[in-house]
Amino acid sequence: MDPDEWQEPVKTYPDLVQQALPGRILAAFDAIARKIAHLSCSKKERNFFRLALLAIIPQFSHAVATGGWLKWVEPKIDVEFLPEAFKGRLEIMLGDLLQVKLPRRADWQARQADARYLPDNDETYSAVITSPPYPNRHDYTRVFGVELMFDFLNREDTRKVRYQSIQSHPEAHPVRPETKEYRRPEKLKEVIEELNEVAKDIRIPTMIDGYFLDIYICLWEMMRVCKSGARIALVVGNAQYYGLPVLVDEIIAELGEQIGLACDKIVAVRYRGNSAQQMGKYGRNPSRESVVIFRKQ
Ligand SMILES: C[S@@+](CC[C@H](N)C(=O)[O-])C[C@H]1O[C@@H](n2cnc3c(N)ncnc32)[C@H](O)[C@@H]1O
Repeated sequence: MDPDEWQEPVKTYPDLVQQALPGRILAAFDAIARKIAHLSCSKKERNFFRLALLAIIPQFSHAVATGGWLKWVEPKIDVEFLPEAFKGRLEIMLGDLLQVKLPRRADWQARQADARYLPDNDETYSAVITSPPYPNRHDYTRVFGVELMFDFLNREDTRKVRYQSIQSHPEAHPVRPETKEYRRPEKLKEVIEELNEVAKDIRIPTMIDGYFLDIYICLWEMMRVCKSGARIALVVGNAQYYGLPVLVDEIIAELGEQIGLACDKIVAVRYRGNSAQQMGKYGRNPSRESVVIFRKQ
């Protein structure tokens, strides 16, 4: 790693990446990424280095994820420390690997898919544990936009992922499989009617409605790929808009039962305070985060 080579990035990056990693910072990340791409080692080993490089982007970035949003900040470390930060991250990752003592021939697979169209065969799994997006307007393609567009996607592909994601933020408008049987739970109907009355941002009731339709489709898929007796656990968070609570866990429990899953329990695991702005307007009203546990009968 020769800092004299950090003059101009060779690749052209989308605006967000250029703004988040201005000047020599992007040139440095780009130079290291190119070095990694040309290492004479296995693809898995190269990916290990790529992951370490991605993991240190927030330390040098002018745009960092705080909660669900990108915040513009002045990075605390200078780009000259990039090699040291990279080495430090690799050491942490190697330490993790040594500590977990992974079995030599682990039997696992990772596959990339839209949760509404799982690529797996019917009745394959004995358990599912998942944390779907919460209907809190956080757009992961924006929160992780710098990393996504530094290494994986161009602007157009990022936009496609944004639109196709679960409708947990107002810009999503996904293409979904057809669902004839879906019935909106009463609790959902009520909250949507109320939101339609008070919402200043008219996209919010549409988003909430679409969110539960998405979760319903995901539940169908989870049920399809599970064996009878399998447990399905969803980690979810309740939301509130304009002072109106959206009981995500209870509505999801009802959706699961609608498709024939048994809801064993809802375990409350945490309460999150509302934003200072919401608190000023509607009072202190913490939202529950829970695990909704189903069983396939
Ligand atoms: C609450 S996060 C959980 C992430 C991860 N499971 C974890 O625990 O760190 C929700 C994730 O769902 C992803 N997501 C959004 N829409 C999706 C879809 N249609 N199919 C699959 N994943 C989706 C988001 O990009 C985000 O990474």
